[in-house]
Amino acid sequence: LTVAVLFGGQSSEHEVSCMSVVNIVSAMDKEKYDIHMIGITKDGKWLLVDDLDKVKEDTWRESDVQAILSPDAEDHGILCVKDGKLERLHVDVVFPALHGMYGEDGTVQGLLELSRIPYVGCGVLASAISMDKVYTKQIVDTLGIRQARYVVIRHTDLEDMAGCIARVEETLDYPVFVKPSKAGSSRGVTKASDAAQLEEGLREAIRHDSKILVEETIVGREIECAVLGGYDPKASGVGEVLSADSALYSYEAKYFNADSRTDIHPAFPKGVLDEVRDDAVRIFKAVDGYGLARVDFFLEKDTNQVVFNEINTLPGFTGISMYPMLWADKGVDAFTLIDTLIAQAFK
Ligand code: DAL
Ligand code: MG
Repeated sequence: LTVAVLFGGQSSEHEVSCMSVVNIVSAMDKEKYDIHMIGITKDGKWLLVDDLDKVKEDTWRESDVQAILSPDAEDHGILCVKDGKLERLHVDVVFPALHGMYGEDGTVQGLLELSRIPYVGCGVLASAISMDKVYTKQIVDTLGIRQARYVVIRHTDLEDMAGCIARVEETLDYPVFVKPSKAGSSRGVTKASDAAQLEEGLREAIRHDSKILVEETIVGREIECAVLGGYDPKASGVGEVLSADSALYSYEAKYFNADSRTDIHPAFPKGVLDEVRDDAVRIFKAVDGYGLARVDFFLEKDTNQVVFNEINTLPGFTGISMYPMLWADKGVDAFTLIDTLIAQAFK
């Protein structure tokens, strides 16, 4: 089976994807799979990368082979251009090891639908909904699962900054979180404790997206559940993120602070484990999920209530990522996990 693995990408999570792909390709059985790695630069250039070591050493961008994934439905392949010469590589399935915009948001999935090449993970709709925190919230509202109260602010609303601040203050108490609606790995997310910080946060968030979500702060433990499966998805156990940066599990704290830790067997009050697992699958189905996702919650400190936070349809596979760890704990080792994901791509 020939698998094309896409990594890098144009999003702010480019570097995270470069870490994830190393673990994904390392867990692909080379007897079973012929692998073509396609690195996408931050500028959106697609390059054929011939060696995983170049990804590890971060020198893959020097590749001089352009890779073209055609939307032609009969082609089923990648066109490679080197020294002006064309070569065609057949592809059976694509593994998008991408995070965030132009990777996890349905855009790449749309290209693959047109090409009629099977691909790992969620389709266009689930990807697009899950990438957009505002639409995810609107869907989860219909399930009756608790989530942080929120206010939505659009780009044009910001012309009346005072009005935006008033609207937030009418609905929520400080401190609030200010998030670009479509953002991953906490990029562009800030916490505001007063009107001045809120204004600053709104200006920062709008640099990342034209829609902003302002949310009440939930004080509690950050817990995550992995979902795996096609039309009959299953939930893993529930892990806990022990952030090095207690105020916010920021991009830096997540990936570049060795003190960030995860616990895949935390102690929970009675009933929490089953509730989280059950909610994770319900949310996955409600957004039309397929293949995989990691669903993140809080366990609120004062009430011990489970509060939904977000769903990631292409969760990280880095060395500290919870998704593969939670499945390994259930006896699904990395090789089996990748095999399962690839097999599910053939619906
Ligand atoms: N968005 C990152 C990759 C994650 O959720 O794991
Ligand atoms: Mg995310």
